[in-house]
Amino acid sequence: MKRKTVTDLAHNLLLSNINKESVIVDATAGNGHDTLFLAQHVKHVHAFDIQLQAINNSKELTKDYSNITFHHTSFENITKITPYYDGVIFNLGYLPGSDKQIKTNYHTTIQTLDKLHEKKMGFIEIVAYPGHIEGFIESVAIQSWLDKNKIKYRVIKLPFDTKNEPPFIFYWNYKDWKENFSVFLCISIVYYTVPWYISSVQYTVVRRLSLWIHNLKKVLLNFVF
Ligand SMILES: C[S@@+](CC[C@H](N)C(=O)[O-])C[C@H]1O[C@@H](n2cnc3c(N)ncnc32)[C@H](O)[C@@H]1O
Repeated sequence: MKRKTVTDLAHNLLLSNINKESVIVDATAGNGHDTLFLAQHVKHVHAFDIQLQAINNSKELTKDYSNITFHHTSFENITKITPYYDGVIFNLGYLPGSDKQIKTNYHTTIQTLDKLHEKKMGFIEIVAYPGHIEGFIESVAIQSWLDKNKIKYRVIKLPFDTKNEPPFIFYWNYKDWKENFSVFLCISIVYYTVPWYISSVQYTVVRRLSLWIHNLKKVLLNFVF
């Protein structure tokens, strides 16, 4: 039986977040395997890569699909080029079988995450490769960035991976964040308005009662004298 890879894990996670109406950004098209998977399951894919060779390889692999727009540019331009999306996936590192010097780096990755965080739209899935030094620095930078921004994220790893620093996935969803925020807002509104309402009702009751007693006293006094 074929052993599951981190890509299988990433694709399984994607399946629970996408449907035939989804618009998804593949931030790092590479050889097009993720772009192909997405094109088979969603309405539209925006695929980015800084290397022309990667764009061409991806185009070749996905030539039977017409629901992909390729962008030969850095993923730093995602928010400028694609104003709407349901999710963004990153598969960090270098193009397999090509120049290993051209790879993602923590500086542009964090800058891009900052821009996506401003939009707070959809989910973000990042496959990180800490097995090489730049990949290790990049994954530590992402984790610190997530903690600094108080983002609730999940780290998903393959069970029983015996490698020293096996690849893993960062995942978070701004939809959950927005839902949690709405629940928090509702609870806060109830928490602050209900006691105020109760106290104002109590105030009215007490005031009416004291007025009533006052009037009764006057009537009784009139009656007696
Ligand atoms: C590990 S590969 C992606 C694999 C790909 N998802 C696949 O299924 O074959 C990483 C890719 O990121 C690209 N890349 C590096 N820096 C980038 C950037 N700033 N913007 C967009 N793509 C970048 C590289 O050119 C490389 O093709």
